[in-house]
This record gives sequence, C-alpha cells and structure tokens, in this order.
Amino acid sequence: MTTANNAAPAAEALRGLAAGARVVFFSGKGGVGKTTTAAATAVALADAGERVLLVSTDPAHNLGHLFERRLKDTPSTLATTAAGGRLDALEIDPAAATAGHLKEVGATIRAMMPEHLHREVDKYLRLAADAPGTHEASVLERIAELTEELTDTDGYDVVVFDTAPSGHTARLMALPDLMTAWTDGLLRRREASERFGEAVVGLGGKRQAEDNRDARIRSVLTRRRDRFARLRGLLADRDRCAFVLVLAAERLPVAETIEFHEQLRAQGIGVRALVINKRSPGDAGEFLARRRKAEERYVAELRQAVPDPPVLNIRLAPDELRGLDGLWSLPDLVEN
Ligand SMILES: Nc1ncnc2c1ncn2[C@@H]1O[C@H](COP(=O)(O)OP(=O)(O)OP(=O)(O)O)[C@@H](O)[C@H]1O
Ligand SMILES: [Mg+2]
Repeated sequence: MTTANNAAPAAEALRGLAAGARVVFFSGKGGVGKTTTAAATAVALADAGERVLLVSTDPAHNLGHLFERRLKDTPSTLATTAAGGRLDALEIDPAAATAGHLKEVGATIRAMMPEHLHREVDKYLRLAADAPGTHEASVLERIAELTEELTDTDGYDVVVFDTAPSGHTARLMALPDLMTAWTDGLLRRREASERFGEAVVGLGGKRQAEDNRDARIRSVLTRRRDRFARLRGLLADRDRCAFVLVLAAERLPVAETIEFHEQLRAQGIGVRALVINKRSPGDAGEFLARRRKAEERYVAELRQAVPDPPVLNIRLAPDELRGLDGLWSLPDLVEN
C-alpha cells in the first residue's frame, strides 16, 4: 500500500507511463478516469521539470472543469514548477478546428473547379461543416498540428492527450490511413488530368496560369498527405508514442479494453500500459472486500486476453479529485 510519505516513487510510476515518449494518449471507455489520470500524469511530468502540453480531444470537454478554469483552443499555462517544468493545457474546439480545416479544403476545391461552380462548392462546404466525419478529420488535423509543434525549439517536451471514449478514438486512429488513401486518390486524378493537359498542349497549348494552379493544388494535397502520414508514423512508433488504456475492473470496461487493444494491434499501434482505476481496497470492510474479489476476476480475464502491457492499479479515492491539489494526491493512490 502506498502512503503520502512515499508519494515520490508513486509519482514516478505515473511518469513511467510516458517514459521517453513525446506523445502520450490516454484512452478508454466513458467515465473510467481518462481525464483524471491524463491530467495527474501531466502534473507529475511537469513536476519533474518537463514542459508539458495537456490536450483534450473530447468534444465534451471536462479538462477545464477538472482544473476549475476556462480553457481555450490555444495553450494556457496552469502551473510552472521549481524543477523548471511547465504545465500548459488546451481543449480542441471542434467548431474552430472544422472552420480552419474547411477553409483550407475549400480553397483547394475552389481552385480545382471552374469559376461558375464556386457557389455550388460553397454550398457543399456549408453542408460538410455539419457532417460527422468532418469534425473527426478536423480534430485529427489539429492533433497532427499539435504533435508537429514538438519539433519547434520553444515547443514542448511531451504532449499528453486526454481523449474521448474509446469507440471515437479507435475511429480517429484509423483516420490517418483513410485520409492518406483519399489524398493519394486525388493526387492520382490530378496527375491523370495533367497528362491529358500535356497531350492537349500540342493542340493549342496550356496556359501558364493553369500550370501554377496545378502546382498549388498539388502542394496543398501533398502537404496534407505528408502530415497524416507523419502522424500515422508517430502513432505506430512505440518509442515516441505511448498509448495508455484506462479502465475499471468491471465487466464492460474489461470487454471493451480487450476489443480496443485488438483494434489498435491491427493498426500496428502498441499499448504502453493499462491503468486499472478506482480499485476497491480489500482491507476497508466487507463490502469493499467483496468488490475487490469481483474485480480480481475481471483483472484475471483481462490479463488472459492482454498479458503483455504492464498494469498500474489506482485506488478509489475517498474524496473528489479536483484542481491541482486533487491531482497531486492521485499518486498516493497508486498501488504497488
Ligand atoms: N481513482 C479515483 N477515485 C475516485 N474517483 C475517481 C478516480 N478517478 C476518477 N474519478 C472520478 O470519476 C469521474 C470520471 O473521471 P474522469 O472524468 O477522469 O473519467 P473519463 O474517463 O475522462 O470520463 P469521460 O469518458 O466522460 O471523459 C470523475 O468524477 C472523477 O473525479
Ligand atoms: Mg474525460
């Protein structure tokens, strides 16, 4: 059992979830503790001197509620630490991400279409803004953008993502492949039409303006394809990217974690660790001891299906975990 006076090694256990990684994802079923554990890990990392950006990708944000302050789509500094660390946080705003995404996509489509169809294009874009896939693609583009900020000199040592419940994240993780395929398809179509254009040159010549336009479209499409390919590469890189699955030791979260682990494996994404949160203490009365016993059965089931990633057990807290103070206390709940 861990107590307050060995909190430092317990905080080390949380930091271990991210060890060496530039990007950490906390994922799992609804309500299991993704936001809490992601935030507590970010706090522990900042405490050890890292510059940390904590990002919520969940449209139903509660990172701001947890820290009891309003967060924006751009970083706000929540804490600086004696060791030189810093904790910044932001909540991706799907509406702003979608607007930015459609602006760029719109400019590309407009450039591809003859002038008289531009009004149709605008109508299509207005409809596309409400299509479910558009939000996901936009959030993904924002995730890609944020992970690229790591290469900036004044950027972050690590970006911690607090994600939406797993079904959503699984789709999000499959998107870079889909988007790359889609962009490649568009590029191939452009190439075919360019070859056709070249054939026509002999018959009347291709204008310089068209050449420039083609080059512009190609560069926009290539840039996006490369960005998604880089994100895909990062997700599959087990050293640079740590994927942490959070769950409760209950029937449904265990079943969903087994399934999600399999989906990630199929996409070449490895799971760094499993966090089993809200564990009942076995030494605090008969009621909780019985719950603990039931939990052990579900944990055994989980380990049979997913034996490899290390497990971090976190106890059920007696009080509400809120604000920086609450998150500082989370490591005390880590079990050995
Ligand atoms: N170890 C714990 N002990 C007690 N309460 C906890 C613990 N971990 C998280 N909670 C509480 O459980 C609730 C859900 O936690 P949290 O918001 O972190 O889950 P989530 O997985 O992010 O949920 P969502 O899927 O809705 O985003 C919160 O009220 C939180 O304070
Ligand atoms: Mg959450």
